[in-house]
Amino acid sequence: MKHIRNFCIIAHIDHGKSTLADRLLDFTGSVTEREKQAQLLDNMDLERERGITIKSHAIQMDYVHEGEQYTLNLIDTPGHVDFSYEVSRSIAACEGALLVVDAAQSIQAQTISNLYLALENDLEIIPVLNKVDLPSANPEEVTDDIVDLLGCDPEDVIPASAKTGIGIEEILHAIITKIPAPSGKVDAPLRALIFDSVYNPFRGVETFFRVINGSIKKNQHIKFVATGKDYSADEVGTLKLIQHPKQEIKTGDVGYLITGIKDAREVKVGDTITDAKNPTTEAVAGFEDVKPMVFAGIYPVDTEDYEELRASMEKLQLNDASLVFTPESSAALGFGFRCGFLGMLHLEIIQERLEREFDMTVITTVPNVSYQAYTNKHPDDIILVNNPSDLPEPSTLNRVEEPFIKASIITKADYVGPVMSLCIEKRGEITNQSYLTTERVELSFDMPLAEIVFDFYDRLKTVSRGYASFDYSPIGLRTSKLVKVDVLLNGNKVDALSALLHQDNAYDIGKKMCEKLKELIPRQQFDIPIQAAIGAKIISRETVKALRKDVTAKCYGGDISRKRKLLEKQKKGKKRMRQVGNVEIPQEAFMAVLKLN
Ligand code: GTP
Repeated sequence: MKHIRNFCIIAHIDHGKSTLADRLLDFTGSVTEREKQAQLLDNMDLERERGITIKSHAIQMDYVHEGEQYTLNLIDTPGHVDFSYEVSRSIAACEGALLVVDAAQSIQAQTISNLYLALENDLEIIPVLNKVDLPSANPEEVTDDIVDLLGCDPEDVIPASAKTGIGIEEILHAIITKIPAPSGKVDAPLRALIFDSVYNPFRGVETFFRVINGSIKKNQHIKFVATGKDYSADEVGTLKLIQHPKQEIKTGDVGYLITGIKDAREVKVGDTITDAKNPTTEAVAGFEDVKPMVFAGIYPVDTEDYEELRASMEKLQLNDASLVFTPESSAALGFGFRCGFLGMLHLEIIQERLEREFDMTVITTVPNVSYQAYTNKHPDDIILVNNPSDLPEPSTLNRVEEPFIKASIITKADYVGPVMSLCIEKRGEITNQSYLTTERVELSFDMPLAEIVFDFYDRLKTVSRGYASFDYSPIGLRTSKLVKVDVLLNGNKVDALSALLHQDNAYDIGKKMCEKLKELIPRQQFDIPIQAAIGAKIISRETVKALRKDVTAKCYGGDISRKRKLLEKQKKGKKRMRQVGNVEIPQEAFMAVLKLN
């Protein structure tokens, strides 16, 4: 145990986490050329393209220091706010963290919030000033920022370049000398923390764990505390670039477990593994059942593909337990699913995977967060509103509560004004403003989660010219004036276009939605009125003017094949349309509310 070091890397996206991990693996000789890929830890295609580590894994390195052989377990952490619970569990599995800061960009909001998580878990922090090779690097100033943040000595900050190899040996030296070895009871009953899992279609779910007390042996009869299910540990082993099966994983070490579980939902990140016959009395603290934050309807473009969509979603859920869905139907779109996601990035990933891996073409409806409503008749009964249609009639409604977040934004002093205006427009209330340095300011806001789900990231980037970073955590529900805005096309309500909006925004957004839909809905043989309404009250109106000419008119008497081609073309266009009543709505119209500005 005294030769084990468990650590993770805390870094803002693009500050060089993956590159540094590669360099450490190289330096410790943990990689053979054949196994080498450009980015070793990111091995899902989609992840590589987006440059975001979606699912964390772990990797073991051997390193000889002053004649002694050490085992270093690097536990990877996802780099996006949608996955902050998983980050917290990875951190809980470590004794130390490398805090990697880009020498040109300095500290960002995401870095700070993950750093706080690490400090709460008593991790030893090793500050690394990365990218010192860059001409734009500002090592003195950024070192000062780090010293201010951590209260450490400037000499503790290791100047490094994951690209050229500067500082790598110093980092390894610090990992061994500064990060404490794990402490744990070798003789106590098995107690291990699950910090991640991955679905493998051939072997079932692979569970990654850190042993806190006792050990886990091949073929041991084990139990997961939170789910209460028991299994045989068919295979245990350590994680190098490939998995190495072992007879036993001992106290303090990190490994993988295979039990033949076929459903990702049985393996919950944060759960405790223990011995089935001699269980631990104390589960690892901090377990949470992750709850979806954002909901949207997903419908097949072709109604006939409903069953295929269901099968695809079920397969997706097998390897992504944080995806939840229930069947729902819409008058406009037919049968589909109401799906819950961890955040907007997760929604986009699921949509993309459905299209790429399952070849499905889907319509996604306007996302909303989960509200709680109460009626006058039963003021104590919570009504969960995950769908605009769940909101009780305004006349029966007592109140609605909406989820709020604490937002932290770090920006340059020059952009404080525009960032504040944006947050206030998004119903934010400033709670704190502090200068980290003379140039960099941290702003804290309490804001409704719903406001950041839409276009907040993009707007923030624009108003700060890219010089702002953003992070948030939920702080509970607050009473809110929420209304349902419906859209009527040609007098018919299109349920899939309904949105839940704050009363103060409803008129403005209702108007913009009508304008946007007017752009998106093609002209047809008749005038199409587009109306936005709250209850029976029309709040806005636009009209798509009737088409004058018959498209085939000019072909009469002409070349028949040309006419056929034209019809063919029209038909193709139709495939991506949805007929609602007698109006054809293009697919992108269902997400129009997201693209209003
Ligand atoms: P995510 O996976 O998106 O979280 O990013 P990351 O933090 O893992 O960053 P990554 O390692 O992918 O590096 C981001 C970019 O910075 C890449 O283009 C790297 O080549 C580059 N980079 C990383 N380290 C250094 C460095 O020390 N010097 C220079 N010049 N570039 C670096």
